[in-house]
Amino acid sequence: MNAAATYEVRPSSHPRTLAERTAALADLKFGVVFSDHMARARWTESDGWHDRRIEAYGPLSLDPAAAVLHYAQEIFEGLKAYRHADGSVWAFRPDRNAARLARSAKRLALPALSEEDFLASIASLVATDAEWVPSAPGSSLYLRPYMFASEAFLGVRAAKQVDYLVIASPVGPYFTNGFQPLSIWVDAEYNRAGPGGTGDAKCGGNYAASLLPQALAYEQGCDQVCFLDAATGTYLEELGGMNVFLVHADGSVTTPALGTILEGVTRDSILQMCREGGREVSEQRIALTDLLEQIGSGDVTEVFACGTAAVITPIGRLKGTDFDVTIGSGDAGPVTTELYEAITDIQYGRREDVHGWMHRLV
Ligand code: COI
Repeated sequence: MNAAATYEVRPSSHPRTLAERTAALADLKFGVVFSDHMARARWTESDGWHDRRIEAYGPLSLDPAAAVLHYAQEIFEGLKAYRHADGSVWAFRPDRNAARLARSAKRLALPALSEEDFLASIASLVATDAEWVPSAPGSSLYLRPYMFASEAFLGVRAAKQVDYLVIASPVGPYFTNGFQPLSIWVDAEYNRAGPGGTGDAKCGGNYAASLLPQALAYEQGCDQVCFLDAATGTYLEELGGMNVFLVHADGSVTTPALGTILEGVTRDSILQMCREGGREVSEQRIALTDLLEQIGSGDVTEVFACGTAAVITPIGRLKGTDFDVTIGSGDAGPVTTELYEAITDIQYGRREDVHGWMHRLV
């Protein structure tokens, strides 16, 4: 690592005690507890990236005119640090998150952060807060790198001052019930992203746009919303914060093609594992009407959601304004279960990492 990407560690003056940390790590939920430190760096048009440091986790001081608060010039990432049985700590394909952050930055007119810089920020933070990486089954330290326009300016243009931070949150399962089938509301009214929009960038605005339809999904008694394409209202896109896969009776898998959806790291890993396992794999347009027919005929036997936070979670039911169908038996199917076990075994170091996907942090 060159000196330019070194994060200076300024230890917190008020880290939590062992007793406080032990209490915080008991019975973990998703995204409610945060570690003692955070990584940060600043970019300005004149100086580029500078002032890289690890410092105490705490509130930010932000000018009320900071552009992000007005025009949502913001992007983020999500990845996890996993504790292995020998105590070591590993990230799963962090180079893919670095590459996606770079693509998102381009789309949101934010400055590029190099892969080296990205990896240095997470490695320094996790090394500083290594005790915050939990070891309970299924738990991990969720890392949330993000970048936003901090320049105080109300004109609409790309900001000339940008902040990059990484915060860390010890987490349990994203869905309270863990690996239990979800019910999905397929929303025909609202769209997440249109052609040429920001659907393939990981920016906060996409998630803000998903919140009203997600609330409607809850009203319908469903766990998650699924979006259809904005251009025709015909094809499946993705869920509020995760990708979706179908498993067919012949063992093949299909998932919506890239374009207006997020290129998930878990999505890509599943595609690769399926291909290597001899399954036929296809990234294609999936019409909702075809899917409903295929569920009815038994051609589609399993549907699942996937993402860093969600890992792989079975989907047991699809509901819309004029349908309500159960998929297969409504329980987790064998292919979903097999893929969940394969990916989590690699992430937690229980299975050989033949792809070189794991990156040691501590
Ligand atoms: C992730 O899976 O890491 C996500 O970013 C999804 C969600 C928590 C926003």
